[in-house]
Amino acid sequence: MPRLYLETYGCQMNVADSELITGALGRHGYETTHDPGQADVLLVNTCAIRDNAEQRVLGRMGELKRHKRPGTVLGVVGCMAQRLGPRLLERVPQVDLVIGPDGYRGLAELIARARAGERAADVALRGWEHYEDVPAERAAGPSAFVTVQRGCDYRCTYCIVPTTRGPERSRRLGDVVREVAALASAGTTEVTLLGQTVNSYHDGVHDFADLLRAVGTVSGVRRVRFTSPHPNDFSTRVLAAMAETPTVCEHVHLPVQSGSSAVLKRMLRRYDRGAYLGVVAALRRAVPGIALTTDIIVGFPGETDRDFADTLSLVEAVGFDDAYTFRYSPREGTPSLRLRDAVPDDVARDRLERLIAAVRRVARRINVGLVGSSHEVLVEGRARRGGLLQGRTRSNKVTVFEGPEEWIGTYRRVRLTGTTGSTFTAWPLTRELAVVG
Ligand code: 5AD
Ligand code: SF4
Repeated sequence: MPRLYLETYGCQMNVADSELITGALGRHGYETTHDPGQADVLLVNTCAIRDNAEQRVLGRMGELKRHKRPGTVLGVVGCMAQRLGPRLLERVPQVDLVIGPDGYRGLAELIARARAGERAADVALRGWEHYEDVPAERAAGPSAFVTVQRGCDYRCTYCIVPTTRGPERSRRLGDVVREVAALASAGTTEVTLLGQTVNSYHDGVHDFADLLRAVGTVSGVRRVRFTSPHPNDFSTRVLAAMAETPTVCEHVHLPVQSGSSAVLKRMLRRYDRGAYLGVVAALRRAVPGIALTTDIIVGFPGETDRDFADTLSLVEAVGFDDAYTFRYSPREGTPSLRLRDAVPDDVARDRLERLIAAVRRVARRINVGLVGSSHEVLVEGRARRGGLLQGRTRSNKVTVFEGPEEWIGTYRRVRLTGTTGSTFTAWPLTRELAVVG
C-alpha cells in the first residue's frame, strides 16, 4: 500500500480539508504514516493568510525534501498552493505538484502523473466543488468538523481568502444533516460547522438558522459550534435559532479586526464600531452568558494612535473572553496594497504588545469571575502536564481536573477552582458529592 504523510497548517477549514484529502487518497489505497521517512507521498496543506505562515511552509519544504527518494512525490496543497500556483514549482525545484483547495478530487491522478515525471499545478477554482462524494477520514473522538460552506464573497481589503478559496457556496442542508447523522451514529457528540462566513450559509432554500435547528436536533448531537461568522450575518432568524436550540453552545468567535470605524471602513468590513457593538448586545440578549472571542489586526495602513486607542477601548467595552491578534501582513493582489500611510514595523509591534496585554487583562478579569461556578465539560483527553484530564465547557473554556481514563469522550460536571488567567483547574462534582455523601 502506498503511504501518505500529510502536514496541515492554518485554520480549521484546512484541518477539515486534510481529512478530505486523507479520505480521497484512502479510496485509492493509501494509508497514512506519521513518519515522513516512510512516505511515498509527502503533502503539506498550507495557509496564505499572512506572510509568516508562508515562510514557515517554505522552511518546512526545505526539511521535507530530504525525505525524497526516487519515486517519492512532494506536493504543496491548500491556500499557498492556490496563491502561487506554478510559481511554486519554479521556486522550489523539489516540489512535484501544486493543488489548490478545489482540486483535491484530482489528487490521485496528479500524483500518478508526478510519479511518471510530470510536474503539475492544478489551481482551477471550481465554484461547484463540495466534495460531496468524498468521505472525510476523521481522527477518532467525540468531536468533528463539518464544512458547510466554502469560499468567501466578502472582499475585506487585507484578505487573500477570496482569491485562494474562490466564491462562496453552501452545501445542501439535507447533505449536511445526513453527514452529521452518520457521524452521530458512529459516536460523534460535538460538531463544529465550518465556513469562511458560516452564518451567511444559504443553500438556495435554507439559511443558517434552518441549518442550526436541523443539525442541533440530530439524535446523539449534544453540542453544536460554528466558526467563523461575519457580524453582519447574525439575522434575527439566526439569533432566534441560537436561542431556541439547546445544543448550540454559548460561545461565538466574532472577528472584529479593529475598534475604529475609520479603519473598519478602509478594511471594507461593512460595519462600524457601533454596529459591531449592536451585534454583541443582540447576541447577549439572545444567549445570556455567551462567551465572545475575536480576531484583531493592528497596523493596518492609516491606523493612527487614536484608531488604535479605539481598538483597545473596544476590547474593554465588549469584554472579550479571548482574542487572536495579528500584525497586518500585506498580501500581494489584495486591495489594501494600494492604501497609503503604511504603519512602521516598530509602531505595529508596540501596538500588538499593548493589545495582547489588554486582551489578557480583560480575559483574566472575566475568568477570575467564573471561579466557583460549575459547568458541563466534554472530556477531550489527557492534559499535556501532570497526568490530569482536559475538558472544554460549552463556553469553550479549557479546564483540567483529576479523573480516570474512562471519562475521555464523556460529559461531566465540574466546579472551577482556579484559573491561570486563560485556562482553569476544576473539581469533578460527582467526586465532590461522593466525598460529602
Ligand atoms: N494580515 C494580518 N492578519 C490577517 N488576517 C487576515 N488577513 C490578514 C492579513 N493580511 C487575520 C484576520 C482574520 C484571521 C483569520 O486572520 O484577523 O480574521
Ligand atoms: Fe477574508 Fe473578510 Fe472573507 Fe473573512 S470575510 S475570509 S476576512 S474576505
